[in-house]
Amino acid sequence: MRSPYRVLVVGLGKRGLHHAAFFKANPRFELVGISSRDPARVQNALSKLGNVPSSNDARSLALAAKPDVFCFCTPPHVRLSLLELGIECGVKLIALEKPLALTSAELFALRDVIRQAGVKAVVSHQHRYGVHYRKVKEIIDDGALGRLQTVYGTATGWMTHLLSHLIDYTCWFNDYAPASWAMAQAAGRAKLSDSHPSPDYIGGFVQFANGVRGIYECGAGAPDQPEVAKWWGKNRMGAQGTDGFAEVLTNGGWRAVTRSGGWQGGEGAMNYDLDMPPYIQEIADWLDDDGKVHPCSFERACQGAEIMLALQRSAAEGGQVGLPLAAGVDEQALFRAKIADRPVLVSCEQNRKEFGLA
Ligand SMILES: NC(=O)c1ccc[n+]([C@@H]2O[C@H](COP(=O)([O-])OP(=O)(O)OC[C@H]3O[C@@H](n4cnc5c(N)ncnc54)[C@H](O)[C@@H]3O)[C@@H](O)[C@H]2O)c1
Repeated sequence: MRSPYRVLVVGLGKRGLHHAAFFKANPRFELVGISSRDPARVQNALSKLGNVPSSNDARSLALAAKPDVFCFCTPPHVRLSLLELGIECGVKLIALEKPLALTSAELFALRDVIRQAGVKAVVSHQHRYGVHYRKVKEIIDDGALGRLQTVYGTATGWMTHLLSHLIDYTCWFNDYAPASWAMAQAAGRAKLSDSHPSPDYIGGFVQFANGVRGIYECGAGAPDQPEVAKWWGKNRMGAQGTDGFAEVLTNGGWRAVTRSGGWQGGEGAMNYDLDMPPYIQEIADWLDDDGKVHPCSFERACQGAEIMLALQRSAAEGGQVGLPLAAGVDEQALFRAKIADRPVLVSCEQNRKEFGLA
């Protein structure tokens, strides 16, 4: 058996702990270090993970440990500096969290660094491992929907938390066909200063090069999914074709109506304990074999991030935005300058509460 890949995890909040625990549980990996700037988080992690080398100084730990895999799980504004640290350590693979970048300027900088270094990278869009997500993809791949016309995604949670998930899974449904352009509108400034800075509501369209239309909505104006109790799980992603539709609700199973199958449906709810093990295993598989590219590869995430940022640029500046993006800009600055200072109009009472509106 090959020796395990050595992993270092930086950032020990919710997702850092998940990653550290699931890397540790997989025999193809050895957790060689954990780090957080916050000593209390390090202590909390050690109490859960047992005896693992740790430090409050990620840089010195990483340079000393020389890991094969550098994983960081930090807030969305902390990306490039840690990516560069991972590269400096000479790693084989970087594992990072969504959303890839808050601005297209940063996205392009990340992409340049990864491509120049020639390292592998994965971005944690791991919901796709859910049985209900896979069932929808299977129905689409079986051809039961006929010719695919539309993919769509809605979430009541705000953009920087959820739009990259909606886009990644619907691009998967559409076999990652490239996008040609995007157009969107946005409203509400309350969440612009959040840790996941976002307009309170964004909705838009995407033209994919294979003719499929993408429709996306995120935030306070997005529709409720009354079938789902958990507010963060009210995400609906699906595909419609000439012969039917199939869709997944993050915390509410799947359903489909097709010409040959009538109504079908089944269970499924997003679950880190079920979704993280295959996500981690496929990192080992890709490291073992260059041909087994991870389904959550950095390049796929870049494709989704460009769509997400094109929607944002359109919402701030108006009109259609061509894809791929030609140059990087600061979409966050555009939002702060351009979004009207008027409260967002909500689609349901629960959204009003979650967005802290009177
Ligand atoms: N894939 C998913 O299902 C999923 C779910 C939740 C969150 N996320 C994403 O994961 C990321 C982290 O979210 P979280 O919920 O773990 O956050 P968190 O706030 O619980 O933890 C963030 C960690 O980053 C550390 N940190 C902050 N600034 C830092 C810096 N400059 N340098 C080094 N460390 C720094 C904090 O000390 C903390 O340990 C976010 O991008 C979030 O969107 C993904």
